Amino acid sequence: MTASTPRIAVVTGANRGLGRAAARALAQRGFAVALTYRGDPGEAAGVVEEICDAGGDAIVVRLDLADVASFADFTVSLRHDIDARWGRSAIDVLVNNAGIGLFGRLEDATVDQFDALIGTNLRGTFFLIQALAPHIGDGGRIINVSTSLTRHVSPGTSLYAASKTAVEALSRSLAVELGPRGIRINSIAPGPTATDFNGGAIRDDPDLRSSLAAHTALGRVGEPAEIADAIAALASSELRWMTAERIEVSGGSLL
Ligand SMILES: NC(=O)c1ccc[n+]([C@@H]2O[C@H](COP(=O)([O-])OP(=O)(O)OC[C@H]3O[C@@H](n4cnc5c(N)ncnc54)[C@H](OP(=O)(O)O)[C@@H]3O)[C@@H](O)[C@H]2O)c1
Repeated sequence: MTASTPRIAVVTGANRGLGRAAARALAQRGFAVALTYRGDPGEAAGVVEEICDAGGDAIVVRLDLADVASFADFTVSLRHDIDARWGRSAIDVLVNNAGIGLFGRLEDATVDQFDALIGTNLRGTFFLIQALAPHIGDGGRIINVSTSLTRHVSPGTSLYAASKTAVEALSRSLAVELGPRGIRINSIAPGPTATDFNGGAIRDDPDLRSSLAAHTALGRVGEPAEIADAIAALASSELRWMTAERIEVSGGSLL
């Protein structure tokens, strides 16, 4: 890698929410960012524009995490586009951010909800790591986005929490498998954060916000940039001796 070749970060689900904030935070720290979206190419292009306007560099590639059969083609496209833009195809940082939340009590849960949560959050994340790991450079980083709900418990969150607990478990195991290549893999566990997540309730419902704030040491819900800065810190060399960890970024939620 020459002095002019940038470090490359791939951030999934970066057209909005935490992923968008993470893409921006990594770009601010000098990473060239390949961001993925599933639905709205215009929204994703807007994030690329924001990053480029701020002096960074980014490209966009479509990814549906629920469609594991598409991962081989996705990997080819991603590597091709990264190489065409930045003259190398190795990935330095992979942020597995894309995910869904579906909530409901035991009696209301459906097989479709179960399959969607496990299929996207766990199956998709695992097989994306499998597809991209050979292309992550030695010494690279993988950061998996989990949730504070793997530690504290609320009614109606069992399937979502189970899908993310499984992501934390695979992060720890893969840290051992990928450690010989110097690849660090950690989980970030955000607390309630103001995004579109769960219909935007944490951002838009004042009653929910104040109830969550009342159970949070720092007295409010999180903002996307606060999670993104923690992701960027994990991607930095300062935290190079950290692997297989779960780092909660929740302002002290439900302690
Ligand atoms: N906000 C919170 O309070 C909170 C707390 C803890 C953990 N988290 C986790 O943080 C991550 C980001 O959440 P967020 O708050 O930013 O939610 P969000 O605003 O709803 O954004 C979700 C992102 O994931 C993408 N995505 C969803 N399903 C996908 C699929 N099948 N394939 C590819 N991309 C897909 C979405 O893409 P499209 O827009 O194209 O659908 C979008 O970019 C999730 O893993 C979530 O579980 C969030």
